[in-house]
Amino acid sequence: MPVFLGIDIGTSGTKTLAMKDSGEILASATEEYPLSSPKPGWSEQEPDHWWKASVDSVKKVMKLAKLKPADIGGIGLSGQMHGSVFLDKAHQVIRPALLWNDQRTAAECTEIESRAGGRSALIQMVANPALTGFTAPKILWLRNKEKKNFDKTVQVLLPKDYVRFRLTGDFATEVSDASGTLLLDVVNRNWSSKLLGKLDLDASLLPKVYESEDVTGVLTESAAKAMGLRAGIPVVGGGGDQAASAIGNGIVGRGVVSATMGTSGVVFAHSDEVQVDPEGRLHTFCHAVRGKWHVMGCVLSAGGSLQWYRNQLCQAEIAEAKKKKIDPYELITAQAADAPAGSEGLFFLPYLTGERTPHADPNARGCWIGLSLRHGKPHLARSVMEGATYAMRDTLEIIRSMNIPVKEIRLSGGGARSPFWRQLQADIYGQPVVTINASEGPAYGVALLAAAGTGSYKSVVEACKATISVVTKTANKAAATKTYNAGYPIYQQLYRSLKSDFASIQGLIQ
Ligand code: XUL
Repeated sequence: MPVFLGIDIGTSGTKTLAMKDSGEILASATEEYPLSSPKPGWSEQEPDHWWKASVDSVKKVMKLAKLKPADIGGIGLSGQMHGSVFLDKAHQVIRPALLWNDQRTAAECTEIESRAGGRSALIQMVANPALTGFTAPKILWLRNKEKKNFDKTVQVLLPKDYVRFRLTGDFATEVSDASGTLLLDVVNRNWSSKLLGKLDLDASLLPKVYESEDVTGVLTESAAKAMGLRAGIPVVGGGGDQAASAIGNGIVGRGVVSATMGTSGVVFAHSDEVQVDPEGRLHTFCHAVRGKWHVMGCVLSAGGSLQWYRNQLCQAEIAEAKKKKIDPYELITAQAADAPAGSEGLFFLPYLTGERTPHADPNARGCWIGLSLRHGKPHLARSVMEGATYAMRDTLEIIRSMNIPVKEIRLSGGGARSPFWRQLQADIYGQPVVTINASEGPAYGVALLAAAGTGSYKSVVEACKATISVVTKTANKAAATKTYNAGYPIYQQLYRSLKSDFASIQGLIQ
């Protein structure tokens, strides 16, 4: 029975797991690497670190699961989306890669919109507006700001596709990750020659596009030697981390939606047809399911807001947790549970790193509003969790308004592990939420894609049906939902009221 490897090139590290074709996970390992921010708003990584972490994590997994090279039937790749690796004609990396959370390209986003003939013309071509994190503005930034490097560039690759190149020697990508470059004709699932023309970019800069289940190449002798594998193992397209994670959550049919509360928070819905939010607040991307699409919204600091709260204001809880050998979040959520739903009028806006959905505003900032003498730490903790969840509800409401059915909400990430946060999400979303048997995220999703793409299943939809099932269900409580339904319009209004102040504040510190 073949075993499949899923490799996820994340922002803080690369995670590899080994999965039997039954879906059972045999082992997983993560190798970390640094992120550098040479200037405010810049975010970069060395592609070679991704490669080394891939090699090391594969070796660890093979050892942990006591696997032999002959056991491996296929490899799937996932990774942080939107990053840009620039290669020269010797196929060497020219400069560190710009990442998804890099904010340096505001001017290039304006340039793209104007070259495209306006925002709605751009959305017509590539289904999405230009956002600073996307890849196309990064390519233009290189042309505008590092002309010498741009002139040397013969190939631009996404993070996981750089690792693919090191594995197989092929320049290839797949539709889900390619959608986040802003250069894919999302409707026709291939590069947009129209937009490339308007941006004066040569199509040869970009790799060949595959469907996510397709085999894009096989492991070379040298990669096999480095990893302790065998040459010739097929490598499938895989997926951008969000689409891959959705596969790992079984979001492969109409009506099933995921809400993943990690550092960022993502609400993701499968769609059988291309559905574009005319206002461009949601991303419309190709799904990693053949011939299907998805819409999603990304809250930049969802779990990240609670992490900030823990790090900055919970030193006592961190020390106590250390003594008790428990996770500090357990103490923080227990405190939060002492405050009532709605935190007695205290609101937290979670825009600590600006926002992407629904506001696309790098100037937006976090704040507590409504503080009074009555409020203590339980209110602070609860309001942070409520603010992050209201932000997720923003995306859910747009999805609902596009008539995409939301029959089942599957939770994953840190927000799914705590029963308290599960209840809070059900109450704020105003409908039951469920969790599933798999919690391994993108690496699991691409291992399933590898199993489907190499013939263990007819399709990835079949693979998900065979391996993923619901394990918990949390119903919303009517009284809490009523409180949150009253608080939500106020939460929404607060951003509108403060938008121009956020811009003035940014002006002060620049
Ligand atoms: C998706 C996105 C992030 C990155 C990093 O649009 O920006 O999920 O892929 O995880």
